Amino acid sequence: MNLFLTGATGLVGGELLVTLSKRNEVEKIYCLIRSENQQVATQRLEKVFALHNDTFDAARIIPVLGNLFDDNLTDVLKSNPELNNVDVIIHSAANTSFSRFNDDLVEKANIGGLTKILLWAKELPHLKTFLYIGTATICGKDVKDRVVHEDESPNLNATHLVKYTYTKMKGELLIREHLPEEKILIARPSIIMGDSRPIIPRSPVILWAMATINHLRLIPVNEHAQLDIIPVDYAAQAIVKLLFANRKYHVYHISAGEEGATTALKLSRTLEDYFDEMPPFNFISKSLLNQVKHWTKGKLQPDSELYTYRKYLDYWKDSFEDKSKLRILFSGLDPYLDFMELGHVFDNKRLLEDVDMPNSEPADVYIANSMNFVEKLDILEGAIDP
Ligand SMILES: NC(=O)c1ccc[n+]([C@@H]2O[C@H](COP(=O)([O-])OP(=O)(O)OC[C@H]3O[C@@H](n4cnc5c(N)ncnc54)[C@H](OP(=O)(O)O)[C@@H]3O)[C@@H](O)[C@H]2O)c1
Repeated sequence: MNLFLTGATGLVGGELLVTLSKRNEVEKIYCLIRSENQQVATQRLEKVFALHNDTFDAARIIPVLGNLFDDNLTDVLKSNPELNNVDVIIHSAANTSFSRFNDDLVEKANIGGLTKILLWAKELPHLKTFLYIGTATICGKDVKDRVVHEDESPNLNATHLVKYTYTKMKGELLIREHLPEEKILIARPSIIMGDSRPIIPRSPVILWAMATINHLRLIPVNEHAQLDIIPVDYAAQAIVKLLFANRKYHVYHISAGEEGATTALKLSRTLEDYFDEMPPFNFISKSLLNQVKHWTKGKLQPDSELYTYRKYLDYWKDSFEDKSKLRILFSGLDPYLDFMELGHVFDNKRLLEDVDMPNSEPADVYIANSMNFVEKLDILEGAIDP
């Protein structure tokens, strides 16, 4: 099997690359890398393997220079004779930003970039499988507090909290326009956070939100809403096993499901056990977020409900030199809080039926392995680059 992988330097793609490199069925893995030259691209791939001391084999892992934004990307791929033998494409590259300031880039990468890959893929002589790393959150924000099934999406009527999930939904429709169903495999992970092993997680991305919540302690979110969170190692193992499995479906959730889901309350207990010198967690209504924002601007009305939580306001004053930092943190956190309120649990029966995997451990259990790392995260930096 010769693979072409995009997004290999990312959270999911990196873990997929290392996991795939250990499979005997895989001959070569061509990786689309954005870089000015071959040497730097190779170094970026070496770094992916070096993170956890895995073996990088330069004869099997081959960088292909390219950017989803390049106008000529399709032609560059078509004119590379080495890539003619590719029989599996795994498209993991995406712009995953929730910030509306990045909406144009998100659209350009996730729809424009995908289209360029598909225009090349559809002409490949030996293509067997196009594996698209989608997201379970394409179900949108009208679905609330229930188990969501694969066949409910893509739904053009779904409404989206952020452009990112809209583009991922459109992406699935695009693939169906360009390729026959038998070549399509869509893996839709839920929320990927940290690693279940006691090692450095591959990326701080969603751990950043947890570290920020840990620092703030007074959180405007429903603590009982279900959260479907899985670790990156589980996600990669499941996706790779799915690729080699006898599959009954074309679309699979890669998720915690009903058995493995957690809640903000359960996560907070794990955090309180480790960071026991901080004030206990207190969850308040999401509707108070605006009051928090007003308070950070010094504009909160004296009779506001938020003053009931004066102990936390004093704690915030002590731990942040100026309130503008707090404002930055809350605006970075805002879209995450919206997602946390949705109460989505993504059914994982298809996955457990077709691959030999146990349920993922709940996030409140496995995340105990990442506490050292959470402690060291620079929460302000994460908020500035959402
Ligand atoms: N993380 C989650 O919780 C989660 C959950 C569900 C689904 N997913 C899906 O999983 C996939 C991977 O996400 P991730 O969390 O691994 O994201 P990530 O860590 O942000 O990695 C994104 C990857 O895409 C590459 N990329 C971005 N823009 C590119 C461009 N213009 N040209 C070429 N490559 C580009 C990045 O390359 P550079 O290193 O050069 O930037 C990086 O390798 C995405 O499709 C996402 O929708 C993620």
